[in-house]
Amino acid sequence: MAENRTFTMIKPDATAAGNTGAITKMIEEAGFRIVAMKKVQLSAELAGKFYEIHKARPFYGELCAYMSSGPIVPMILEKENAVEDFRKLIGATDPKKAAPGTIRALFAKSIDANAIHGSDSDENAALEGNFFFSQFERF
Ligand code: RTP
Ligand code: MG
Repeated sequence: MAENRTFTMIKPDATAAGNTGAITKMIEEAGFRIVAMKKVQLSAELAGKFYEIHKARPFYGELCAYMSSGPIVPMILEKENAVEDFRKLIGATDPKKAAPGTIRALFAKSIDANAIHGSDSDENAALEGNFFFSQFERF
């Protein structure tokens, strides 16, 4: 994937709360083009594969259980400086520390139920996008 792309997932708390539309609107208004998008529910096993890089961390089990607890909306997004700009748009992992006006400040409920994921590097954006989308699902 080119360096002007990132990967995101709207998490189960935000899809359940009916915030998919509001969050997607914020993403588009911030200048990101939606390259690919769908609604899916992961098994715990697939969530475990997706978060393999966090396997050694104490919150890994909870994270995989949480991310497979309901539907999510994965997307590939395109914009200049996509990875860094998108992390700014979503705000800090812990919503209590997220800057005002960020997606997590507005929609996240807790550090686990924190509304949205954003890739942390170009390399991970490409891996994560490829995990969810085939070449025929990208526009
Ligand atoms: P994400 O990957 O979801 O965009 O979040 P992030 O980069 O801001 O945070 P990361 O360190 O990659 O952690 C992935 C997700 O694991 C949960 N987490 N819980 N209890 C904790 O200390 C803790 N730390 C992280 C969060 O839901 C985080 O989004
Ligand atoms: Mg992360």
